[in-house]
Amino acid sequence: MQPPIIAPSVLNADFARLGQEAEAVLDAGGDWLHLDVMDHQFVPNLTVGPMVCRALRNYGVSAPIDVHLMVESVDPLIESFAKAGASGISFHPEAVRHLDRSINLVRESGCKVGLVLNPATPLALVEEVLPEIDMLLIMSVNPGFGGQAFIPYTLNKIERARKLIDALDRPVRLQVDGGIKVHNIAQVAAAGADTFVVGSEIFSSESYGDVIKQLKASATV
Ligand code: DX5
Ligand code: ZN
Repeated sequence: MQPPIIAPSVLNADFARLGQEAEAVLDAGGDWLHLDVMDHQFVPNLTVGPMVCRALRNYGVSAPIDVHLMVESVDPLIESFAKAGASGISFHPEAVRHLDRSINLVRESGCKVGLVLNPATPLALVEEVLPEIDMLLIMSVNPGFGGQAFIPYTLNKIERARKLIDALDRPVRLQVDGGIKVHNIAQVAAAGADTFVVGSEIFSSESYGDVIKQLKASATV
């Protein structure tokens, strides 16, 4: 198993101080910065676009920026985010018509390719293309908001995804996003996840460093 990666989601950060918040959470041990992009169509919420990704790079963020697109119109945003400094771009196959084409667009943009499945979406949707991607993200809440409760039935899908990934002959990260806390991360890691998006648990705490340390210790299986 690859060492666990903690990707703090800045969705619950103080957006008026986003640069400082990003720096603080990375200095505190966060490995990747997870940027939640919402268009008020695919999900009810509306967040940020490529300009904010560029602004974080210009501010000095050098860690990988893990862009999570929760949008209806995926393809036109791929190049914009790649040019704005994204390291990886994950999108929902539920939102695209030609999955193979969108995967190729991300790959050609120079970014790592991630696919995201909503809690109720079956793994079968990505089975054919698993060998073509760098990361599979299983949503453990309905996308749109931080601070929601982890949906327990997704653990079973994480276990099955782990088996599919282990059968491949290339490394594909298995990321989980939504409701990850110090108290449940061990269970999610035991199910097979190796990359963890954590938002409110970090940003509502007094010490980002203490929480990230606890998350990493518990996620190491
Ligand atoms: C939800 C987002 C998540 C969210 C995670 O749509 O994709 O990245 O910010 O936040 P928590 O950890 O609070 O569930
Ligand atoms: Zn996310």
